[in-house]
Amino acid sequence: MLEEIEKIEKETVSPDFADAAALEQFRLTYLSSKGRIQVLMDAFKNLPGVEKKAVGKPLNALKSRLEEVFRVFKEKFSADSGSAQTFDTTLPINASHFGSSHPLKIVENALCDIFYSLGFDIADGPEIEDDRHNFGALNFAEDHPARDMQDTFFIGNHVLRTHTSSVQIREMEKRTPPIRLVMPGRVYRNEAISARSNCFFHQIEGLYIDKDVSFADLKQTLYYFVQQFFGEGTQVRFRSSYFPFTEPSAEMDIWAGTDTEEKRRLTKGTGWLEVLGCGMVHPNVLKACNIDPEVYQGYAFGMGIDRITMLKYGISDIRDLFHNDIRLLSQFSGV
Ligand code: PHE
Repeated sequence: MLEEIEKIEKETVSPDFADAAALEQFRLTYLSSKGRIQVLMDAFKNLPGVEKKAVGKPLNALKSRLEEVFRVFKEKFSADSGSAQTFDTTLPINASHFGSSHPLKIVENALCDIFYSLGFDIADGPEIEDDRHNFGALNFAEDHPARDMQDTFFIGNHVLRTHTSSVQIREMEKRTPPIRLVMPGRVYRNEAISARSNCFFHQIEGLYIDKDVSFADLKQTLYYFVQQFFGEGTQVRFRSSYFPFTEPSAEMDIWAGTDTEEKRRLTKGTGWLEVLGCGMVHPNVLKACNIDPEVYQGYAFGMGIDRITMLKYGISDIRDLFHNDIRLLSQFSGV
């Protein structure tokens, strides 16, 4: 018997198993109810007392060692195969650590979606512009005081675009009517920074050029947009205004209300919130882009995305939109 014990000791001196099947083979050979250890155990029972003494110790030691070997390798294989077998790729993942879209992007997307549903395509243009696209082709005369309306940052003989109307020009130069576009993007103005204004902010520009386009079309489109975005029944009003690139020009306000401190502040206590400038594209602008104003007309509008975002989410300081404070941004996950 001692020989058999020694033999098994030798066979199993440095146990290693390629896989779970090899381990199972080991179990069957040595540890199962018909395995070699059990055979020894059975034989042990029938030994005379003196021999028992000599054999008992090494046999027990061998048995425990092999059981330990089995336990360790079984654990190893079940840990390996556990991850492979129980990984269900269809389970929903834990989404709590996802990032979120920035509130400005959420609003920009919502605005684009509404106009897209009306047949407007989406375009963008550069933030560093030349004078022609930001001013000249938009009918700002060289010495026109309107250039002062927009406190411009200059970079050499270029500017940081002061409005997205520059993209109108770029697109009209490239395309032939009918043109139906919305153009979102960041714009820059050298303004004193406060809770209400920042040196950069965001606009979305709209442009429709075709035959027989009227101011009524403009109003109807904007009215539809307001009902979709701000809710059915939202009141609007148009006030006449001035922009060099539109004639006639108007500004549109929506009724935001005066029921919260937030709204009173945003509307300077009037309840009316100015959301956009608009008008019929000036014939000089069409001419500057080689579009014949005798054949085509169009309307344009431009609105600030930041103010709308602040209204929608009750954000009282525009600067909060740009601090990237995770405590604010994380509130928009899943929106
Ligand atoms: N570009 C104007 C602004 O920034 C808005 C506007 C766009 C007005 C298009 C009329 C038409 O204030």
